[in-house]
Amino acid sequence: MSDEIKKRIFSGVQPSGNLTIGNYLGAIKNWKKFEDDYDPFYCVVDMHAITVRQDPAVLRRRTYEILALYIASGLDPEKNTMFVQSHVPAHAELTWVLNCFTMFGELSRMTQFKDKSARNASNINAGLFDYPVLMASDILLYQAALVPVGQDQLQHIELTRDVAVRFNSVFGDVFTIPEGYTVKSSTKIMSLQEPTKKMSKSDENENAFVAILDEKDVVMRKFKRAVTDSDTCVRYAEGKDGINNLMNIYGAFTGKTHGEIEKEFEGRGYGDFKTAVGETVADGLAPVREKFASLMKDKAYLESVMKSGAEKASYIASKTLSKVYKKVGFVPRIR
Ligand code: TYM
Repeated sequence: MSDEIKKRIFSGVQPSGNLTIGNYLGAIKNWKKFEDDYDPFYCVVDMHAITVRQDPAVLRRRTYEILALYIASGLDPEKNTMFVQSHVPAHAELTWVLNCFTMFGELSRMTQFKDKSARNASNINAGLFDYPVLMASDILLYQAALVPVGQDQLQHIELTRDVAVRFNSVFGDVFTIPEGYTVKSSTKIMSLQEPTKKMSKSDENENAFVAILDEKDVVMRKFKRAVTDSDTCVRYAEGKDGINNLMNIYGAFTGKTHGEIEKEFEGRGYGDFKTAVGETVADGLAPVREKFASLMKDKAYLESVMKSGAEKASYIASKTLSKVYKKVGFVPRIR
């Protein structure tokens, strides 16, 4: 397929914590398959990250780390445009315009805003409230058709669609209306300690999540401690949230269905199953960890990817932004 007719993909990850296997299975791992037939853009969304307080030095380090993780997960920089959000000013600029097309009530209903404001009661800043509009700008600037994410982001994509439709209904077909893309079994990886809650990189309990970069012994220990139930049979069923989650994780790494997993562990206890999940996850992540370690030693290479990514992203983003500015009636800058 030529570049002209390839549909565009957009997604992003916040450099705001140690990435978990939730981020990996729900998002990054699924991106590789798009690189030949689509034109993918993957952003390290540092501007989103500062909606909660960040240590500047840590934010800088994590920005490199996320980019390294994208590449370590198999994304080819020749086929995927990878860049840092704050390197492309059009994200902030489009956000302002779209703010004027997004309703206070809509933003008030966002689940992530409600959750995050409950967790950061002393810092419910305007950026946290406006976060979904920045996310809409990320997606719409690139005229993305598909947005591969985990389930927790689908509400933001719905809002993006609503805002885009609203804008288009006034000004014509300016924005492509994007669709969310999720992989059913791994769209919501749950906490290992409270399996009714999403696995989150910001969880205070380190046993609740497995980080992509955790060493094998840590991975094994966390799975051993994973909360299950008083049944003893490995089967996928309502009310067995802990086991269902482990089956989803195991399935995502092995490609096995729930039925196949049930058969494999028939007559075996949870201990065996947890060991198998731990080993599979640790071994599955080992190549990512190794590649990551070598990439992090080559800052110059990461910066060259950032640089060319930002150039390509800026070119496309500025085309959309100029169109938007013209449509709303801004006088073009006199040069
Ligand atoms: P973030 O940084 O919280 O998470 C990055 C990606 O990981 C997915 N994810 C999960 N998937 C399955 N199970 C889990 N437990 C789990 N936890 C996280 C998220 O759904 C996400 O796909 N707002 C976004 C970043 C963003 C973005 C965008 C995404 C900014 N602009 C534009 C897509 C398009 C976020 O906070 O993701």
